[in-house]
Amino acid sequence: MGTLNTYTKKHLYIGGEWVEGERYVPLFSPYSGEKLADIPQGTKEDVDRAIGAAEEAAYLMRALSSHERAGVLDRLARLLEERQDEAAAIIANEAAKPIKAARVEVKRTIQTYRFAAMEARNRYGETLPMDAAPGGENRVGYTVREPIGVIGAITPFNFPMNLVAHKVGPAIAAGNSVVLKPASATPLSAFFLAELLEEAGLPKGACNVVTGSGRVVGDRLVKDTRVKMITFTGSAETGIGIRNQAGLKKVTLELGSNAALIVDEGVDLADVAKRAVMGAFAYQGQVCISIQRIYVHDAVYQAFLRAFVAETEKLKAGDPLDSATDLSSLITKEDTERALSWVQEAVDSGAVLETGGTVEGNVMRPTVLTNVDRDMKVSCKEVFAPVVVINRIQSIDEGINAVNDSRYGLQAGIFTPNIHHAFEAADQLHVGGVLINDIPTYRVDHMPYGGVKESGTGREGIRYSVDEMTEMKLIIVNKNK
Ligand code: SIN
Repeated sequence: MGTLNTYTKKHLYIGGEWVEGERYVPLFSPYSGEKLADIPQGTKEDVDRAIGAAEEAAYLMRALSSHERAGVLDRLARLLEERQDEAAAIIANEAAKPIKAARVEVKRTIQTYRFAAMEARNRYGETLPMDAAPGGENRVGYTVREPIGVIGAITPFNFPMNLVAHKVGPAIAAGNSVVLKPASATPLSAFFLAELLEEAGLPKGACNVVTGSGRVVGDRLVKDTRVKMITFTGSAETGIGIRNQAGLKKVTLELGSNAALIVDEGVDLADVAKRAVMGAFAYQGQVCISIQRIYVHDAVYQAFLRAFVAETEKLKAGDPLDSATDLSSLITKEDTERALSWVQEAVDSGAVLETGGTVEGNVMRPTVLTNVDRDMKVSCKEVFAPVVVINRIQSIDEGINAVNDSRYGLQAGIFTPNIHHAFEAADQLHVGGVLINDIPTYRVDHMPYGGVKESGTGREGIRYSVDEMTEMKLIIVNKNK
């Protein structure tokens, strides 16, 4: 697998050209500290040029037929498939994502582009029964969905290929153009995508990559009126800031959560514990739907806790490039320090550390806490680290109320053999998605994905993103004339 010593100085990708930046900053591996590349820091002028290029390309994109747009996406998926080992190594290196998880991300990314190609071919409008209203006789009404133009895509570090695909894929399928600002921690995946898009035959300027700081690049995209939509995945704080500044632009926000799981009595505890450990600690808990809170029925609480801790302690921490590694470094040292300090604060206030709470090499051990109050940071804020809180409940109602007692609402899960409990959870959990007999971390790429409350607005999952990225237009023909 190896390091990325072939990656050195990168360039901005604007109007189909690789453009030298004015200023560069080094990019380091979060795990080894090794320098991976020099990354250009886009200026306001770079963003202006990228938006200009995207605006011109928007006309070309709009004029492409559906099968031509689908063709680009299919070729992109094929190219990525051919280079999937390289793609996984890029993710593992820049994001410290364990290579086995990075490989899964690449496979999902290929699928996401394939779903986007399908969606490009499947854009149907509606025929309206105009004569359902008096005055509608002899008229034919139908709708079409039109591209909206330039889309500003601001993406996070945690799925540097697949969450980029969730924005770039549907944007192309819908006939739009994009200016992409990838996370500063994981720009290499975005540059790799740009290379593949060029080879796949995307018109010049239809996807531009401008790296740099959120305050310069992100702000410019959000404020420029030529950009018709912002699609953002990241923290609630940044998302709310974007919403407040975006004016009349469409805005889709996929924000964070402190996702929760309810475990009822009567389930296979060994099996549920194993799956829950995966949902809590995959990619070090840096997933918006990582399990952070678990509410377990009193009757099975002790047995579940024992099984969960035992499974947690089997996880192997280490080098992301090692195929045996389950958990590696968090994206920055500051994030490790923050997570450790939240754990310490909880313990100082009476929480019990069941396992973890330490650092091995530069990897935070997966951490399990009990006896945690609802307003401790490890419970009520998004921890985005390998920390899980296990609570005891006396009834499913109590569990549902506890899950809902959150500023967030992305996905929630319940394991139960009881159909009434399952439907009660489906009805009453205030979240974007309820997973019955599965973890809230479950996602496949064509399902609607998004949240309520501070977890965001709008939905991703290609078809739903294409809806967000298009405007409905109505056409009415008067047959009398
Ligand atoms: C996210 O962190 O929001 C994405 C989760 C996923 O795609 O599995």
